[in-house]
Amino acid sequence: MLEISGLHAGYGAVSVLHGVDFTLHQGAFLGLLGANNAGKSTIINCLSGVVRPTSGHIRFEGRELTGLAPHKITDMGLIQVPEGRLIFPQMSVLDNLKLGGGTKRAIAKRSDEMERVFALFPRLSERHTQMAGTMSGGEQQMLAIGRGLMGQPKVLMLDEPSLGLSPLFSQIIFAALKKLHEDGLTILCVEQNLNLTLAYSTSGVVLERGVIAVEGSGPELRDHPITRRAYLGL
Ligand SMILES: Nc1ncnc2c1ncn2[C@@H]1O[C@H](COP(=O)(O)OP(=O)(O)O)[C@@H](O)[C@H]1O
Ligand SMILES: [Mg+2]
Repeated sequence: MLEISGLHAGYGAVSVLHGVDFTLHQGAFLGLLGANNAGKSTIINCLSGVVRPTSGHIRFEGRELTGLAPHKITDMGLIQVPEGRLIFPQMSVLDNLKLGGGTKRAIAKRSDEMERVFALFPRLSERHTQMAGTMSGGEQQMLAIGRGLMGQPKVLMLDEPSLGLSPLFSQIIFAALKKLHEDGLTILCVEQNLNLTLAYSTSGVVLERGVIAVEGSGPELRDHPITRRAYLGL
């Protein structure tokens, strides 16, 4: 569904990605793992069009994405839930959700999708008039995911959804992702929490020094020396 090949990217004179290759198959829940500063967010930001790669290819359903504007990529159904959530704090929960459903593909389905988001996260329904910035971190993450879903994603990309959340909220978030995956959504998830990611994903890739060093299933990756090096510094 999504094919990344020979992807190079960086910031000014600093190069971060040195030829990243991996494939996200339809229906997968792929964990993108790696040490801090390995370049995980840079990959996600290349996929969503926020960072422009210096070379390489990103193909989504056979179409070349490289160089397309972010809103075009969102319209095609590749939707990012950004690191740090980036919801609009001064707007209500409802208005934040409506903004996520404003794309060409999504607008006709907006009210049905809102019902589905409220069924997935009843807390958002209870708090729909509340100003988003006054909610807890876990509730804001629910909102960020809900806003992404409102855009009718074919692929949902998440960047560290459990960052700063309590274990309880992290479980709630991952249980919701599992439900979405079971309902057919393809998911690409960057996560610091190795055990959570490996428990819920169907497979994973580990980024090391700007290239994918290993890929495999959860059990294969959990004890792999490269994973241990990335997460434990071993
Ligand atoms: N906007 C930016 N400008 C300059 N350097 C950046 C920028 N964003 C990230 N970097 C650098 O690129 C490298 C990879 O960062 P990032 O992709 O955020 O890694 P990760 O998400 O794996 O922690 C880091 O060394 C980081 O400091
Ligand atoms: Mg990051």
